[in-house]
Amino acid sequence: MIRDKGCGELRESDIGSNLSLVGWVFRRRDHGGLIFIDLRDRSGLCQVVFSPDIAGNSHTNAHDLRGEYVIAVSGEIRKRPEGTENPNIPTGIVELYVNKLEVLNEAAPLPYNMEEAADAGEALRLKHRYLDLRRPEMQQNLMVRHKITKTTRDYLDERGFLEIETPMLTKSTPEGARDYLVPSRMNPGHFYALPQSPQLFKQILMVAGMEKYFQIVKCFRDEDLRADRQPEFTQIDLEMSFADREDILLLMEGMMKKLFKDILGADLETPFRRLSFHESMERFGNDKPDMRFGLELKDMADLALKGAFKVFLDALNSGGMVKAINGKGMAGLSRKEVDMLTSEAQSFGAKGLAWIKVKSSAKGGSGGGFESPIAKFFPEDVLKKMAERLGAEEGDLMLFIADKPKVTYDVLSRLRLELGKRLNLIKPGYKFAWIIDFPLLEWDEEESRFQAMHHPFTAPMNGDIEKLLTVNFSDSQLSTSNFQLLTSLRAKAYDIVLNGYEIGGGSIRIHKQDVQKKMFEVLNISEEEANMKFGFLLDALKYGAPPHGGIALGLDRLVMLMVGAASIRDVIAFPKTQKAVCMMSGAPSTVEPKQLRELYIKTDAPIE
Ligand code: AMO
Ligand code: AMP
Repeated sequence: MIRDKGCGELRESDIGSNLSLVGWVFRRRDHGGLIFIDLRDRSGLCQVVFSPDIAGNSHTNAHDLRGEYVIAVSGEIRKRPEGTENPNIPTGIVELYVNKLEVLNEAAPLPYNMEEAADAGEALRLKHRYLDLRRPEMQQNLMVRHKITKTTRDYLDERGFLEIETPMLTKSTPEGARDYLVPSRMNPGHFYALPQSPQLFKQILMVAGMEKYFQIVKCFRDEDLRADRQPEFTQIDLEMSFADREDILLLMEGMMKKLFKDILGADLETPFRRLSFHESMERFGNDKPDMRFGLELKDMADLALKGAFKVFLDALNSGGMVKAINGKGMAGLSRKEVDMLTSEAQSFGAKGLAWIKVKSSAKGGSGGGFESPIAKFFPEDVLKKMAERLGAEEGDLMLFIADKPKVTYDVLSRLRLELGKRLNLIKPGYKFAWIIDFPLLEWDEEESRFQAMHHPFTAPMNGDIEKLLTVNFSDSQLSTSNFQLLTSLRAKAYDIVLNGYEIGGGSIRIHKQDVQKKMFEVLNISEEEANMKFGFLLDALKYGAPPHGGIALGLDRLVMLMVGAASIRDVIAFPKTQKAVCMMSGAPSTVEPKQLRELYIKTDAPIE
């Protein structure tokens, strides 16, 4: 055995023993006589002391140690002298007095100071990811990630789920992003798609009688990247036969309860709060509400109609809305600061931001209590009602957006989050919610056709299946009544939300071929196209497909929230940048012309 213990495992009880440790040199302090080293391995840090009186040549060699050298040391564990203990680390009351030093490997001068790694800049850290991952925080993140997947596997195994792999070289699954394509050398001009999710395969596994499937699986989506989006990410994916929505929700609540208890020691309250999609939009402006704070949106249409502010009236007359939030205690903002807030709203897509300051108690006050360029357009009692509805009191700032629903919701939900942060309203803790009763379909203005809100395999609510089947598409134009009928359909879909992040989504599926065909018809996917893309699923549905449903959790997002990281890049060992580049390996890269010829691929892309 090259080592007796981990560096971070030394305790008072080790005092007096002779032990061997290995690790990386983190810090070196040369105090003339004594040389101190903080030695680091995965288990933590401990102090190692080289004294000229104990092993003279080790002490001499210790002068040459540099950051990140890999060394083995042995010697006596001693209590640190009074007053030199470090209460900040678990090994802080002991130190190892070296009588033998062996350098296992040297390290070149480092590209950045390991102690200041957090400030080194992400590009540099990603390029030298092996150094970045040596940081205790990063090691901790990956350890928690490991525990989450291990606990998940145990939890699902105990409930009869089988872990089954599905192919990576496959056909496109419509999850709403662009595919990553892989050319087939054996089949010139043909491409595999990397899976955006195992959706079709897990449904086929249900038809195949596997009953309960899960997989911790990589998914690939070519989309615009953000702090919570990577081009390849991991899902905890599962599917169950003979299950209804309630079974899936309960299974997931149990899993979250176990994960948070076992890994963080946190007790989650179940059942999780449930909000309809409609309620979530009305109160928070999006379908992934951060419910750790209030500042909810309020509808102001009826009150806006009682005034003469043209911006509000125009919005309402053209099918838009007027909604507001209350900037708690923000009436003290200067004109310039309010202008900055307006610019911020505009950067979110708003045309402007109307505001009213509540100057004196609006409830009791007798006039003059409101300050705003638009106050003159409203009778005093309407202004008071506005304040009342928003719970706005003296010192608050009411903020209004009037626009098309999509813009109004989007801007106010983002403004709400921004103010929540700025005003320090976000309470610590874990606020889970289920978003349910989603619309089945979403009208796509640009393409002038319906899209599935979740995906095309999601079942409509029971009563809505019959309605869907009655819609006739023989005429190319959708009649107004059909349009209304289709937008009113609800889906058996659900999303799980934690602290403002969508951490998972799923649905009960369509298991009847006629319904699935109808669904493709509604989505304007021709029979030919449906057969080409999903023929194997349509076929399978003919042969005794059981009712089934499932869900997929975004593992990276879950880990991020559980460790309190700011980005999923901090919980993925080898993530990609915003431009989908791996800074360490340099992927993606150009390839040899010979490889392209073998694949029958020509490219006109400029060669760097
Ligand atoms: P969905 O598309 O909602 O559902 O994906 C499930 C969850 O995966 C996470 N996620 C991502 N995480 C990081 N980077 C990304 N680019 C990314 N995209 C999605 C989210 C999301 O909630 N087949 C269905 C599931 C089902 O119906 O069972 C699906 O993939 O947390
Ligand atoms: P204006 O009439 O353009 O001078 O705007 C008066 C106020 O209304 C300004 O504070 C604008 O920022 C605000 N405003 C303009 N358009 C909108 C809108 N669509 N929603 C909310 N406020 C707006």
